[in-house]
Amino acid sequence: MKIAIGSDHGGLELKENIRKYLKEEGIDFLDLGTDSDESVDYPEFGYKVSKAVKDGECDLGIVCCGTGIGISISANKVKGVRCALCSDCYSARMAREHNNANVLALGGRVVGKDLAIEIVDTFLKGKFQGGRHERRVNKITDIEKDNMV
Ligand code: RB5
Repeated sequence: MKIAIGSDHGGLELKENIRKYLKEEGIDFLDLGTDSDESVDYPEFGYKVSKAVKDGECDLGIVCCGTGIGISISANKVKGVRCALCSDCYSARMAREHNNANVLALGGRVVGKDLAIEIVDTFLKGKFQGGRHERRVNKITDIEKDNMV
């Protein structure tokens, strides 16, 4: 499993903690920046992570900005990406089990470091349940087909 990670300056510290966690767990990752606390624009990093997932370079993605909102909206503009903004472990588990989310968004100014790592851990271990959930996710794909090039 390979994970694409990315953040703006507001999510940098959290991304660095996630990076450390992935290294410790021996999980392969691709860090798409940002790399300094200089102010940058979150859409660029949401897009880079989503592209890496969409193109199959990575299996899942994790994006962070101050609130997680801007970067999750940006990530969701890439066809095939289902990005879920989570601030608790239950939502992270459901995002995988029910929504087959392939990108997790977190707010670096919203969730504490330890909780964020638990959310990441829950998300990465989650498995899509299929069944009725697959029918619903397929309907999301149908909406994309009609509305995204
Ligand atoms: C940057 O200050 C901040 O707006 C950004 O990190 C994010 O919270 C946007 O949704």
